[in-house]
This record gives sequence, C-alpha cells and structure tokens, in this order.
Amino acid sequence: MKGWMRAACAVSFLAAGLASVAHAQDSSPIKVGHYASMTGKEATFGQSTDQGIRLALKEINAAGGLNGRPIEVITYDTKGESKEAGTAVTRLVTSDKVVAVLGEVASSLSLAGGAVCQQYGVPMVSPSSTNPRVTQGRSMVSRVCFIDPFQGFVVAKFVRENLKLDRAAVLYDQGQAYSKGLRDEFKKHFTAMGGTIVADEAFTGGDQDFSAQLANIRSKSPQAIFVPGYYTDAGNVALQARRLGISKDIPLLGGDGWDSEQLGKIGGDAIEGSYYSNHYAPDQEGALVRAFVEKYKAEFGQTPDGLAALGYDAMQVLFDSMKRAKSLDGKDLAAAIAQTAGYKGVTGAITIDKNRDASKPAVMVQMRRNEAGDLGPAYVATIEP
Ligand code: PHE
Repeated sequence: MKGWMRAACAVSFLAAGLASVAHAQDSSPIKVGHYASMTGKEATFGQSTDQGIRLALKEINAAGGLNGRPIEVITYDTKGESKEAGTAVTRLVTSDKVVAVLGEVASSLSLAGGAVCQQYGVPMVSPSSTNPRVTQGRSMVSRVCFIDPFQGFVVAKFVRENLKLDRAAVLYDQGQAYSKGLRDEFKKHFTAMGGTIVADEAFTGGDQDFSAQLANIRSKSPQAIFVPGYYTDAGNVALQARRLGISKDIPLLGGDGWDSEQLGKIGGDAIEGSYYSNHYAPDQEGALVRAFVEKYKAEFGQTPDGLAALGYDAMQVLFDSMKRAKSLDGKDLAAAIAQTAGYKGVTGAITIDKNRDASKPAVMVQMRRNEAGDLGPAYVATIEP
C-alpha cells in the first residue's frame, strides 16, 4: 500500500472506530502462547518454565499490563514430542491468534515449532533451546539463552582447567538435536585444548539399557564421562555406570539438559559429585537472583531451577519488547525483540545479537547433598563468553 493510501485508510478506520466505541479503551487481553512439555519424560522442563512465565505474568498484570490491557498466556502440552510441538504452535497461531509464542525448551521441539512461527510470521522466543539451528534462517525466532558452541566450550574448559583431566568419554542421545550438537562442540573444544576423547557412544532417549555403551566406555578408562542428554536418561546412565563398576572418582558431566529436581531423585548416590553447566544457579550471588528465588519460593513452594529462571526472563523480555514495539504485528514485534539490549535478567544481562541469540555467561554446578540430605545443584563457577 502506498503511504498516502495507508494514511487515508487509517483516518477512515479511526473515524469508524470512534463512532462505534466512543471513548472506550480496548481492555481485552493480549494473548501470548506457550508450548511446553507439561507431561512426559521431560515434564519438569515445561512445568518449571510455565511457572517462571506465570510469575512474570503476575507481576506484569499487577502493574497494569500493556496500556491497561492484561496479558494472557495460553499453554499447550507438547509431551516432549516434536510432532506435538508443531500441532500446539499451529493451534496457538491459527485458532487462538496469539501475538507471540514462548517455547520450547528442547531444541528439536523448538525447531518444529519455529517452522510454524516463521510460516505465519508470528514471533517466537525460546527461553532455553541452545542448538544453533533453532534461530538460523528464521527471522521470527529468537532466544534469551546462550548457544551450544559456547556451552560445549564451557564444559571442555572446566574438565581441562578446573578438574585438570586429559581423557574423556562421551555418551549422547542421537535422537535429540541438542545432544548431538553439544557432543560435537564438546569434542571439538576438548581436543583443541589438548584433551583426548577415548570413547564416543550413542543412545536414544528413553532407552532403558546402556550397559553395552558403558562397558565399552569403561574398557577405555576415561577420567570423566560427558553425557549431554536430558535428566531422565542422565540419571539412568549414572545408575547403570556405577552398577557396572565405573567408580565415583570418575565424574559424569552434563549440560543444561540435566537441570531438574528429578536428576537427584533418579540418580541418587550415583549422580552425587557430578557436574553440569547451566544458565543460572539458585544459590548464586546477586540481588536479582536472590529476589527471584524468594518470590518463586513464596509462589510455588519450590526452589526455581534454570528453566524457571529462563521462563521468567523470556516473558519479561517479550513484555519489554511489546512496550517498545511500533505495533503488535509480527514484524514490528519481532523487530523490537531483536533490538533487546542489556536487559537485566535473572539469568544475566540479555542482549539479542544479529543471529537472534543471546551471549551470556554460564555457570558450572555440582550435585551435592544439602543439610536435609537432598541432592541438588551447588554453584561452583561462572564462565564468561
Ligand atoms: N538447552 C536444552 C536444549 O536445547 C534445553 C534445556 C535448557 C534443558 C535449560 C534444561 C535447562 O535442548
């Protein structure tokens, strides 16, 4: 449409609007979608993220929403399956007509949901998907977390410099884009730092028996085993590794996919002492983290994990972008999200870069017992990009 035509239409539209609704202000809710694994093998990912989002939402709406309009979040369950992710996002976009979509956690699911958002021109913000491909070639898709080339570097550096180990084995989930990508990055960096990969084994998420892979790993006598999978599988791998006689002196290491209160419950003693990289640690210092942990505990009676913190940050960054956007149309909102710079999140300062990713520090945590005897992550170190 030519500029003058658009102006003319806007004037007549305004006139019609004024006549019919007089001075009534639009107070209808602004709909935002969330697609998440609320059930299934990765259920705590979706549940924690949704709680984080809803805590942010409560604060946003208590402060008046956007120009008097409340924000409403509609959540659909993906069950941790890529196909369900596509269906959920299609429904959010075509039938609920959301202005933006939050999700997913697992990269393979964000790849599926992102395709739908791109097709319909609706902005998507992933709180926590770290595979580089999630945002590549998708102008509508951005994220508020770091990506796996960095995370792989972080774990490799930690094993080489902090633990001072030379020989590592890898056991990854060949069915998840996240796991495969993180394995590649870890191998690359660990080798470049002078370490040796002594074994590289694969499984498929949901497998119950890892003994063949673990027996092979044991025979190569690694000093550490990197398991870039999700928490249910990682917990089971730990149990079986110790049962097969791989000593607790050989730590298992993981990436953010280990982050769940279920990890310690599944892995028990077998996972104690192991390490993983993450986006935040609940016992980390800093005023924003402390305030968030208190508010979250008061609301949900739980200690927030990294997913909760990222869900909170994703919702806040989206809302901040809505306030700055020229309009809530897909293109305008996506542009405002992409301009996010120095937003002070619980998980660190968030600046969306030219690839629509965020560059932020990572933390390393260790699975330790607290005074009550419960196993959970304890902050060990921060690693800057
Ligand atoms: N980064 C993981 C992925 O991309 C998801 C994840 C993030 C899991 C943070 C736990 C915590 O698949």
